[in-house]
Amino acid sequence: MKQEFIFIGPPGSGKGTQTELLSKEMRLPHIDTGSLLREEIAAGTEDGILANSFMSKGQLAPIAIVSKVIKKRLIKDDCKYGFILDGYPRSMEQAQALDKIFEEIDFNQKVSRTVFYFNVDKELLIERLVNRRCCTDCHSIFNIKTMNLDDNEKCPKCGGKLFIRDDDNEVVARKRFDTYFAQTEPLIELYRKKGWLKELDASLSIHAIYANLTGAIRENVYS
Ligand code: AP5
Repeated sequence: MKQEFIFIGPPGSGKGTQTELLSKEMRLPHIDTGSLLREEIAAGTEDGILANSFMSKGQLAPIAIVSKVIKKRLIKDDCKYGFILDGYPRSMEQAQALDKIFEEIDFNQKVSRTVFYFNVDKELLIERLVNRRCCTDCHSIFNIKTMNLDDNEKCPKCGGKLFIRDDDNEVVARKRFDTYFAQTEPLIELYRKKGWLKELDASLSIHAIYANLTGAIRENVYS
């Protein structure tokens, strides 16, 4: 059966960290609209330049651009057994667009869909975001505070250069929260009503969240 996972939660709730772990274990592609958009920005495309003008203010990128990048990604061959969507959809409009994409890509297939909601206190998130570092080479994510890393240290996994994301400062982070609460949070009710939603306590340690996440997936498969 095709396994489709959707991870929803505020900025810094650990969606990317958990997706990285689950994607390795289940061998499912990690599809993260934030990274897909940052690739467009890095390539200097017209879509990237326009998306950046919204992202740098903590707002959602225009739906036309997001729909284009996500559809291009979901029709790739590596998605045929499933995928993990990290940070998509983020609005009612995007959820409707995704339903249409599901109709096209899942036509005549048996599919299991689960939405994991990463529930965590906002103040804890600001601290996680300002302490986040990402690796330029292997794209791993680290929390320099909990890992006791120095600011100029290299990536503990591959030795690559670590960098701070442009939107990981307190001012933009607070705007990203406003956007999340206004536009993304309503999706929790939508997916609860569809019966797809499972809630995770995302204030726990990375290890404990992962244990609960995989436990919930096992329960789903064997129920
Ligand atoms: P995106 O890149 O998706 O950012 P986000 O949703 O704001 O989420 P983050 O990546 O900030 O957090 P996360 O939940 O993945 O946490 P992480 O695991 O890294 O989007 C960026 C922007 O792109 C958006 O603002 C928007 O403008 C645009 N965009 C993206 N998708 C879009 C869409 N669909 N439509 C329109 N626009 C879109 O963890 C954070 C830190 O905490 C790390 O340092 C990590 O090491 C640490 N950490 C994680 N878990 C724990 C833990 N349990 N304990 C302690 N530390 C932890």
